[in-house]
Amino acid sequence: MGPSISARREAARARRRHLLGLEPHEALTLVPAGLRVSRPGTDAFYTFRQHDDFTWATGLQVEGGVLARDGECWTLFAPVPDVDDRVWHGSPPDLATLAEATGVEEVQPREALQDWLLARTGRAIQFAGHPDFAERCADYDVQPTAFEKLAFDPEGSARLGAALVARRRLKDDVELGWLREAARATAAGHAEGMRSVRPGMTEQALCVEIEAGFRRAGAQGPAYDSIVAGGPNAAVLHAAPTERPFAEDDLVLVDAGAEVAGYDGDVTRVFPAGGRFSARARDLYAAVFRVQEQAVAGVRAGVEFRDLHMQASVGLAEGLVDLGVLRGRPEDLVAQDAHAVFFPHGLGHLLGLATHDVGGYAEGRTRSTRPGLRYLRADVTLAPGMVLTIEPGLYFIPALLDDPQVRETHAARIDFEAAAAFVPVGGVRIEDDVHVTDGEPEVLSAGVPKSLSDLET
Ligand code: GLY
Ligand code: MN
Ligand code: MN
Repeated sequence: MGPSISARREAARARRRHLLGLEPHEALTLVPAGLRVSRPGTDAFYTFRQHDDFTWATGLQVEGGVLARDGECWTLFAPVPDVDDRVWHGSPPDLATLAEATGVEEVQPREALQDWLLARTGRAIQFAGHPDFAERCADYDVQPTAFEKLAFDPEGSARLGAALVARRRLKDDVELGWLREAARATAAGHAEGMRSVRPGMTEQALCVEIEAGFRRAGAQGPAYDSIVAGGPNAAVLHAAPTERPFAEDDLVLVDAGAEVAGYDGDVTRVFPAGGRFSARARDLYAAVFRVQEQAVAGVRAGVEFRDLHMQASVGLAEGLVDLGVLRGRPEDLVAQDAHAVFFPHGLGHLLGLATHDVGGYAEGRTRSTRPGLRYLRADVTLAPGMVLTIEPGLYFIPALLDDPQVRETHAARIDFEAAAAFVPVGGVRIEDDVHVTDGEPEVLSAGVPKSLSDLET
């Protein structure tokens, strides 16, 4: 499943060659994977999550590993488990297997890292990857006295970090292969959820079915905390599933994605718990659907993502006018941020090893503080190889609708009574994962049902 071992190895080699092309060549580079973090007051650990830079540069998961570069030569230092580790956690791949899988010529036990650094005393050193090395070098088998003999280069590290971000924005063929696998497993989980949902079932019970679907399809698990929300709970943007049972006429919002080889799916669908949309829910769904389809079709190389976001904002404002919730010209309503009371997030974000992947803002661009833009997580010129989400939504959020400031600011533009009638519906978000190509966009999540009629069946 997924790209072949040899394709993965060659892709990881090409990524490291790219890193070699970055200045300054004379500095050493360390890319730590990260160490597990203990949960205070217990003998347990938080779930380990490797730094994405390390995954990108090696194509592998090596907890506590360190990738090191001196000149043209790369060395991977991997922890070798002792007997206790093997008793409790089993045996990770041996060094020869790591060399074969990553294409790194030199793979050594991590306990050799200290001597590798001591042999380079006085040299400049820059970092990418997990920032825990300076604080926890002893846990990486390097005594602080050995580490302190090197000259940390903060500017070099910053340049390296920025160059990595720019490169990680564009996915290579192997990364695209994994993202397609993640989207396939994501579709399987959503299908499982749509099959099993019924009135009386709780959000938590539905979440279990969806995440089981991810794992059955080969995923490691969910890419992020799954959002499963019935009725008014759908108006909480990052709602955790609760014990609330679905009512017959509830809309159910599922924002859940599978993770495969570190790459994420991120898909939102909304469907009726009882199999039929109410008239109000149907109108709301249709308004968001129209905007979402237009935005997906607008994904083209050379397009400014911010412009797509603004066009979608106007489309959503139009929908709200049609629903009787907003009054005025859609363009004016967007200029006045009235739409943001119902669409308080951005059109989408880059997707990759992180769900909100690195590189969302092009170099030199910064976030606006305007309500309609401050949660826009991407401001880039779209280019082939980028993968991003398109996820417009409309929500009826009591925290905003009851806010005295919002009521005063938008008294003339929002029909608060009409809006209140939608509060039980909660909200609708429709989210797909889209690959920017030289031509038509590739919708990675096209396998997840989206039309009104498909969702009712
Ligand atoms: N699942 C988080 C998001 O859609 O951005
Ligand atoms: Mn998303
Ligand atoms: Mn999402």
